[in-house]
Amino acid sequence: MPRISHLYFKTAVLFLILGIGMGLNMAISQDHSVIGAHAHCNLLGWVTMALFGGYYALNPRKAERRIAMIQYGIYTAGVTLMVPSLYLMLLGNMAMEPVVAIASIITFIGVLLFAFVIFSGEQVAMTPSTPSYR
Ligand code: HEM
Repeated sequence: MPRISHLYFKTAVLFLILGIGMGLNMAISQDHSVIGAHAHCNLLGWVTMALFGGYYALNPRKAERRIAMIQYGIYTAGVTLMVPSLYLMLLGNMAMEPVVAIASIITFIGVLLFAFVIFSGEQVAMTPSTPSYR
């Protein structure tokens, strides 16, 4: 598996642990006010990052491109800034609002870069090998 896929899965599972932690905390405390932070942590952090990592694993040529690592850095920075700032904002800290806005834009730039990676360069995907059952 390419290095960037490993990086994406390592980062993704950290967001899953954090997201589940928030979910359990909401369930135990019966206070669901941070539901948006929980959902975004799990969906932008765990699910989307795992999809990005899977795409790079299936397209190793694209994983080697410098733009792939730039895309990882920008997307990860956006989500890492967004989740805690959104969490604090939902707890009532409205000073976090501009931070959430900036983090959302950084995350979106990361997504646009991923679209660029998909549509640009060589379109050669790895052919899955047939498993041997002997
Ligand atoms: C043990 C793991 C988890 C726990 C304990 C948990 C707990 C919760 C709780 C308590 C809520 C609030 C429900 C409400 O107020 O209606 C919630 C909402 C939500 N959770 Fe989780 N969650 C877990 C895992 C996940 C995962 C893995 C994902 C996504 C991949 C996820 C996505 C969501 C979403 C999207 C909502 C919002 C649903 C809505 O607004 O209708 N959760 N979760």
